[in-house]
Amino acid sequence: MTRGRKAGGVVRLVSVAVVLSIILVAIQSSFFHPTTGPVNLSTEEIRILSHFQSNLEQCVANRGLGLTAHIIDHCNLILKFPQGTNSTWYNEQFKIFEPLEYKYDVCEAILLWEQYRNMTTVLTREYLDSRPDGWFDYAAKRIAQLGADKCYNQTLCEEHLNLILPAKPPFHPRQFRRCAVVGNSGDLLKTQFGEEIDNHDAVIRDNEAPVNEKYAKHVGLKRDFRLVVRGAARNMIKILNGSDNEVLIIKSVIHRDFNAMIKKIRNPVYLFQGIVLRRGAKGTGMKSIELALSMCDIVDIYGFTVDPGYTEWTRYFSTPRKGHNPLQGRAYYQLLECLGVIRIHSPMRAKRKQDWSDVPSREMINNAHRAALLLKKKQAGQEGGLGQFVNCKVWGKSGPYGTGPVSGSTDMTDTRKYSNYNRWEVMPFESLREEARKHYIQMEGVSLYKMDGNKLDDLVCVKHPPKS
Ligand SMILES: *[C@@H]1O[C@H](CO)[C@@H](O)[C@H](O)[C@H]1NC(C)=O
Ligand SMILES: *[C@@H]1O[C@H](CO)[C@@H](O)[C@H](O)[C@H]1NC(C)=O
Ligand SMILES: *[C@@H]1O[C@H](CO)[C@@H](O)[C@H](O)[C@H]1NC(C)=O
Ligand SMILES: *[C@@H]1O[C@H](CO)[C@@H](O)[C@H](O)[C@H]1NC(C)=O
Repeated sequence: MTRGRKAGGVVRLVSVAVVLSIILVAIQSSFFHPTTGPVNLSTEEIRILSHFQSNLEQCVANRGLGLTAHIIDHCNLILKFPQGTNSTWYNEQFKIFEPLEYKYDVCEAILLWEQYRNMTTVLTREYLDSRPDGWFDYAAKRIAQLGADKCYNQTLCEEHLNLILPAKPPFHPRQFRRCAVVGNSGDLLKTQFGEEIDNHDAVIRDNEAPVNEKYAKHVGLKRDFRLVVRGAARNMIKILNGSDNEVLIIKSVIHRDFNAMIKKIRNPVYLFQGIVLRRGAKGTGMKSIELALSMCDIVDIYGFTVDPGYTEWTRYFSTPRKGHNPLQGRAYYQLLECLGVIRIHSPMRAKRKQDWSDVPSREMINNAHRAALLLKKKQAGQEGGLGQFVNCKVWGKSGPYGTGPVSGSTDMTDTRKYSNYNRWEVMPFESLREEARKHYIQMEGVSLYKMDGNKLDDLVCVKHPPKS
């Protein structure tokens, strides 16, 4: 047992080292051969991206609370914390303190995050049916205590998943205008964002974050979505505290105990589709942002630890304890804000006027996205094919919108049978927000799903014919 775990640790260490050296080699070779391949460097695209970079630089200077951006070229930049920033997080494994500088490829970041606005992030039956080995391979990875690493018996796997597997995406791109993503940072107690949070069209919360009168003025009372991990199952009834509309989205795996609990509640429960399999729980906040972006035009984040001067790492509902200075997270969230992906709200930002004029406009982002895509295609020696389905690697077909069975299995309890799935799963197309309907039509009824992890180059695309 111990030996197995140790061996696993070594394997993990080695793979981390391998990945790191590949990245290093990639960075070096891109430094010394910036124009490898059949590159017909387009000055127009570079001009657009350089303009975008200077806007980003200015945005970070204005909003970054001391962070500064240093442009390397039209795609790359470094975010730097001021000299003397207290980096208290010591990494035992690598024997280093958290660095004060972070390098980013802005072109890749735009491509990644803009794509999320068109994605489906809930696991569905149509995805498992369309993806090669979807049932055999992928489904097995989302079930704990299966007793096998693959679904050799699909019926058995279906039994595990039926309860939480909708036929088609229950939520749609552009479904909501403004969403609040509420993290768990103890910082929330320093502000009174409660009312502001509740004024959003949808509120997304995390794990066991309590919502009640005690914290109302700090975190609000509205509850629409909650991303949970498997361990939270034990406390689920307590966490839900009588709220049976809140949609639960599981970030990890399902298993029999979890299923037993789900049968007792009326809340819709789904599995998150885009998790990075075989990796740690790093970036739980990122998953909430991915979910939000796949449904909302504007994403406001609260309760993320993003202000300078942190000496403790704590949640708003637990006693403070010493922790680290999350510099890496702070830098990345600031990048995302200046890419127009999120809007950050925190104690140090609470007093200033809500002015987003230095964040790039929709038009500017669209132009930069197009330029980044063109450039990438040229560098890869591929011309043309810039349509919205350019990344569709696998195609699948499903029934028209609003048809097919909703989530559920044959052995559902009455509670489950009369649960609140229907609110989302059989919502008539006509009652969707206009922007969502327009998007659906423009996308020709195609839902986009990630294949795996954080790569968005390979998508599973499922077409829904119009209702006849
Ligand atoms: C597959 O699983 C189902 C449900 O648990 C079971 O009834 C069936 O006997 C299994 N089939 C095989 C071949 O093991
Ligand atoms: C449950 O909700 C009630 C009423 O809304 C509230 O008074 C109570 O504090 C909540 N309990 C927990 C554990 O949050
Ligand atoms: C940095 O933070 C640590 C831990 O909170 C503290 O002990 C130390 O005094 C700080 N150093 C500076 C220069 O502020
Ligand atoms: C996203 O969807 C819109 C239609 O609403 C489309 O015009 C655009 O090309 C898509 N973008 C990406 C990156 O897929």
